[in-house]
Amino acid sequence: MWNGLPIVIFGTSGFAKEVLSIIEDINKQNYIKQFDFLGFVSENDDEIGKSIGRYKIVASDSTFELYSKNYNQLGAILSISSSKIKRSIYNNLVKIKNIIYPNIISPYANIGDIISINIGLGNIIAGGCTLTCDMKIGNFNIVNINSTIGHDCIIGDYCTINPLSSISGNVEIKDNVLIGAGSSVMQGVTIGENSSIGLGAFVVKDVEPNSTMICIPAKKM
Ligand SMILES: CC(C)(COP(=O)(O)OP(=O)(O)OC[C@H]1O[C@@H](n2cnc3c(N)ncnc32)[C@H](O)[C@@H]1OP(=O)(O)O)[C@@H](O)C(=O)NCCC(=O)NCCS
Repeated sequence: MWNGLPIVIFGTSGFAKEVLSIIEDINKQNYIKQFDFLGFVSENDDEIGKSIGRYKIVASDSTFELYSKNYNQLGAILSISSSKIKRSIYNNLVKIKNIIYPNIISPYANIGDIISINIGLGNIIAGGCTLTCDMKIGNFNIVNINSTIGHDCIIGDYCTINPLSSISGNVEIKDNVLIGAGSSVMQGVTIGENSSIGLGAFVVKDVEPNSTMICIPAKKM
């Protein structure tokens, strides 16, 4: 009998617990259970068996391949804000053929014209976010609580958009970008890859790759 897709969360932080609550919300909102949550995956072998709330750490990065053999299909969620760590976990997982990477979209997110929103794999969209229309979102991005993404945006891979960020229309965010909580990005701006936008910054001009920008208007740190 179908009991939902067996799924684990990579990561053991507070955010990993928040992602679990999104999974639970999705299950509550659907007549048929979508996900069968098994537990968390830690980077440390000696944390296996440790509890996080009602669930346990069921595997570590190094034991996960063996663990995955118990399932025909196993879902994995990369609930980690560091793009570097997410990328390295994915590079290790990609050889395991029974792993799938669903998008985890809170039922409390406001997704506008869904047909015009082109979204890849493994993204996490938290409650209260608004995504309007005509945009492309790559893979393994996090759009955290109450953030907004406007029309015609392009978001790369492995980005993290922290809570209450406002991404205006026609913005391009390249790969591995961190957008700090409460920051705003002006319409039409491009943020180069590997850049970090500080908490509370307002970005009004293009940002070169590998930059850290803070304050209003945002300047290089
Ligand atoms: C901008 C940022 C990426 C820089 O990180 P970092 O390189 O590790 O910088 P540090 O924390 O060492 O701070 C360096 C200096 O910049 C200041 N600073 C850091 N972030 C700042 C910000 N957002 N706005 C203004 N000043 C900031 C620090 O106070 C420190 O000043 P000092 O040298 O006078 O003590 C980081 O501070 C940030 O804002 N990250 C986003 C955090 C976030 O979104 N949190 C929400 C989580 S849900």
